[in-house]
Amino acid sequence: MPSPVSLSRFLIDQQWQKQAIPSDLRLLVEVVARAIKAISINVGKGALAGVLGEAGTGNVQGEAQKKLDVIANEILLEANEWGGHLAAMASEEMEGPHPIPHRYPKGEYLLLFDPLDGSSNIDVNVSVGTIFSVLRCPEGAAADESSFLQPGTSQVCAGFAVYGPSTVLVLTMGEGVHVFTLDREVGSFVLTQENLRIPADTKEFAINMSNRRFWEPPVARYVEELLAGREGPRGKDFNMRWVASMVADVFRILARGGIFLYPRDARDPSKPGRLRLMYEANPMAFIVEQAGGSATTGRGRILEVVPASLHQRVPVILGSANEVERVTSYHA
Ligand code: F6P
Repeated sequence: MPSPVSLSRFLIDQQWQKQAIPSDLRLLVEVVARAIKAISINVGKGALAGVLGEAGTGNVQGEAQKKLDVIANEILLEANEWGGHLAAMASEEMEGPHPIPHRYPKGEYLLLFDPLDGSSNIDVNVSVGTIFSVLRCPEGAAADESSFLQPGTSQVCAGFAVYGPSTVLVLTMGEGVHVFTLDREVGSFVLTQENLRIPADTKEFAINMSNRRFWEPPVARYVEELLAGREGPRGKDFNMRWVASMVADVFRILARGGIFLYPRDARDPSKPGRLRLMYEANPMAFIVEQAGGSATTGRGRILEVVPASLHQRVPVILGSANEVERVTSYHA
């Protein structure tokens, strides 16, 4: 049996054999993966470590923070401050960018993250995760908010972890999508799937049906047709799954196909969707496209949305290409 390929060995191979990534990007991914291991340990201990429950604070989105939101954010900040690979970081949990302290060397990358996605699932022992996106800081720029406002097509790397029955790390550096599983005994990520592909067709969809009355007509029509099953215009039955942790729903789609929708709805006219563009929609769209799927807002490719602010929200429709194309065409 061939010996398992660790994340470190995979990255070294990308750097030296394939010449696909520079050394500081390799270091960045290693550091993020180390932070993810630390978060995984905290998530896994749960009530034993007293990490469940509310933190008693709110984030910039006005959402109540869980203790684990705060812990995961601090782990990522601390791990990435001193390595010399970053110009700045930005997080769902912080209003503005986090500059690298003057006492540490600075690098050319910008790291954005949602430290703990699906946080409504923390206290109920359902999978949660971490999502991250890497951009290059424009040359000579101050690494302030404006440096981060680049479309998703500029991402050089994106990934996410799912803290589920096993901890997995999904990674793209623009050359396919690879999955690593945490070997908890050895303490390292091991390559378990290379060049994942999302099937173009599917019989599974993911949407929060309780928002149905707020949807726009194209999404309402699309879901109606799915629900009509074999007797309806689609001529086949569809199955529904909704974990309410985007990381888990997208991992399922990578594993066996499907479509995920968090569309624009009429609940709050100031919010054109629920999910955040820069550290949720963009990294997931990059990964899904790299795996052969599609990702749109319904009106255009997510990766081409030009961001106006760090915490901007967008509608998200992603997954199996033929289904995403169909629902997008209903918007036309
Ligand atoms: O905030 C992000 C998120 O937790 C996603 O991970 C998930 O897909 C979505 O929100 C769940 O939203 P809702 O609670 O409306 O189902």
